[in-house]
Amino acid sequence: MKFRFLLPLLIFPIVWFDAAAQKFDGLALTPPMGWSSWNCFGMHINEKDIIEIADAMVESGLRDVGYVYLNLDDNWQAKERDFNGFIHADAERFPSGIKALADYVHGKGLKLGLYSDAGCKTCGGLPGGRGHEYQDAITYARWEVDYLKYDWCNTKGVDPKTAYATMRDALYQAGRPIVFSMCEWGKSRPWTWAEDTGHLWRTTGDIGLHFDGIQYHGGGFNTTGVLPIIDLNTQGRAASGPGHWNDPDMLEVGNGFTVNQDRAHFSMWCMMAAPLILGNDIRKMSRETREIIMNKDAIAIDQDSLGVQCFLAYEQDDVQVWFKPLVNNEWAVCLLNRSTEPRKFLLHWNDYKLSDEVSGKEVNFNKGAFKIYNIWTHKEEGTTESLKKLTIPGHDVVMYKVTPLPKPKKNKN
Ligand code: GLA
Repeated sequence: MKFRFLLPLLIFPIVWFDAAAQKFDGLALTPPMGWSSWNCFGMHINEKDIIEIADAMVESGLRDVGYVYLNLDDNWQAKERDFNGFIHADAERFPSGIKALADYVHGKGLKLGLYSDAGCKTCGGLPGGRGHEYQDAITYARWEVDYLKYDWCNTKGVDPKTAYATMRDALYQAGRPIVFSMCEWGKSRPWTWAEDTGHLWRTTGDIGLHFDGIQYHGGGFNTTGVLPIIDLNTQGRAASGPGHWNDPDMLEVGNGFTVNQDRAHFSMWCMMAAPLILGNDIRKMSRETREIIMNKDAIAIDQDSLGVQCFLAYEQDDVQVWFKPLVNNEWAVCLLNRSTEPRKFLLHWNDYKLSDEVSGKEVNFNKGAFKIYNIWTHKEEGTTESLKKLTIPGHDVVMYKVTPLPKPKKNKN
């Protein structure tokens, strides 16, 4: 008899806590698109510039091609929490506060992102979230924040799975659907465990304005180039998909690369179904930068609803051939020249008979022809029945979408 009373008491708390442990579903069903302050402003952010960025996101047409998140990175916060432990914006640089900024941003048809850190301090030395997770989540929800990037500085001895799950639960309990962007630089291989925790997770260290290698900047800080990031980001390919994306870091397009490099960088981020978070000063963009980041055909490949990251199909003499399955049996194909010198490449479509374990998609160009569309010239280029003689400039790409042609009807006679 006693046991009958005890049993529900034993089971109920387990069920209750389990129900709390989830992230918001239905968010980031395609890779998030927006802008972040970090790559161009670093720690120097203020309300005036951010409002100008919000205006530019609308006036330039960026919002209308999908870039909707306006994310404040490190240093929006005041140096100390208030007397009751609440986080608040730096009063000099953000005099109107974050709620007013959120209202402004929402009024423009955009969404607001904030940044914090799983440690006691952010990478820039501002107050981190550790020990204040529930309090901060309530604050973010009250301010009507839409996106939270959660960094990994000052976390000695902290377990990433527990720390990120705590913030995920706190956000969930606060009740406002907020995209949760985990930024622990791929250290604990989040692609192996974070699907139920974050909507995206960084797979590498910080991107730098260099195409190759790792650069050391002193003080233990280093940056990773575009090419090694592409390589590192392939490790967790199978884990990336709608609602849980591999994040190879924000874009450096428009920050000083050559046009070829910018095009290659942007193309490969689209092929990888990466979040497209711009990092340039969009108030003053060159025509070339604008054309790259607003290429609707490239964006459509990134945002394809199948949500499958590309895979490497072939490699020869510094040229890599990447394939990304798309909905309706279409494919995106990107030839990346990793060398600084131009490379000639003969594309024999018929050599490609591919079977992708991750998506279950297969393609065999011997068995059926495809129509070829060039993503950067915006022109049809015949069919996969004839081979292509290409010259790809150094650090550049040729990128196609191929669409199956209807099979010729068999003659009944
Ligand atoms: C880390 C992150 C960067 C940026 C800075 C801010 O290095 O990886 O993306 O947020 O912190 O301090």
